[in-house]
Amino acid sequence: MDKGKKVLVSGVKPTARQHIGNYFGALRQFVELSNKYESYIFLADYHALNFIQNAKEMEQNIVDITLDYLAVGLDPKKVTLFKQSDVPEVTELCWIFDTITTMPYLARAHAYKDAVANNREVNVGTFNYPMLMAADILIQDANVVPVGQDQKQHVEYARDTAEKFNRIFGETFKLPEALIIEKVATVPGIDGRKMSKSYGNTIELFASDEEIKNKVMSIVTDSGEGIPKNVYALHKLVRSESELKSLYENKKGKYQELKEALADDLMNFIRPLREKREKLAQNKEAVLEILKSGGARARSRTASKMSAVRHAVGVELY
Ligand code: ADP
Ligand code: TRP
Repeated sequence: MDKGKKVLVSGVKPTARQHIGNYFGALRQFVELSNKYESYIFLADYHALNFIQNAKEMEQNIVDITLDYLAVGLDPKKVTLFKQSDVPEVTELCWIFDTITTMPYLARAHAYKDAVANNREVNVGTFNYPMLMAADILIQDANVVPVGQDQKQHVEYARDTAEKFNRIFGETFKLPEALIIEKVATVPGIDGRKMSKSYGNTIELFASDEEIKNKVMSIVTDSGEGIPKNVYALHKLVRSESELKSLYENKKGKYQELKEALADDLMNFIRPLREKREKLAQNKEAVLEILKSGGARARSRTASKMSAVRHAVGVELY
């Protein structure tokens, strides 16, 4: 681990497999940032427990997402990769934060309001989600927290909570900054809408050659000028626009051939990632060992902070 660098903390809920929209829109930048900072990246399994209440599924997702991250280049020698539940002090700190946080303040969180607006019967864990996230961030003295725009408010909750705690109990927590993952152009799905798991229009990041071919061949094309917009938008993710220019001019109107070219390029892009993932998956023990040692490292950093917190609130008598 590099000392002297700023500390980066970020979490990902182990709830869904990655598609290429996630990769180009978030995951890739995430991996790049993790080379620049002293990084702590974790699987937010206790956050996910609000949504996944089935042990087999939870276990499988934890292993799957860990493999996804390792396969796209997150290097466990540089990054502390762990799961949230291996740092139980986080839930202890969450409770302490609960005691200084009001219900109306939490009721203003977008995620909670959305859940209510969708008529969901909201569990306490969902309501309290921002406090657990504040604990994840503040317990590690994070300087930066890379997140998508949708999570920005949660990082603000963490800042507010740090300020409030410091005000009541004395200077204890650093104020973290959200580092908003730069928005790349929206990656379209095979139906032309934004690629999203909720639309069922995705190309999976580790898809087989067969799946890639089938998906690409079914891309909806409706461009009048001989250049299929959706095919091109995906193509420029994996090949330079200067190379594409002549290809798309030469094959103007030949949608089938352009799709075949895209399928080939996507297969070449995805194959090494998929093969790396397959190889890693053969040694599940090694993957679990990465998580386990990362967890021990992340946890060892929290001891002095938690001692300061317990002291500050007046429960550390010996
Ligand atoms: P989904 O829409 O499939 O549920 P998420 O909301 O889980 O995806 O997105 C996770 C991250 O991936 C976010 O940072 C989001 O901005 C990015 N992302 C998701 N879909 C796309 C897309 N089609 N194009 C660009 N970025 C995307
Ligand atoms: N709430 C984040 C999400 O849904 C995941 C998360 C949990 C997180 N704890 C965090 C992100 C701490 C950054 C920092 O994507």
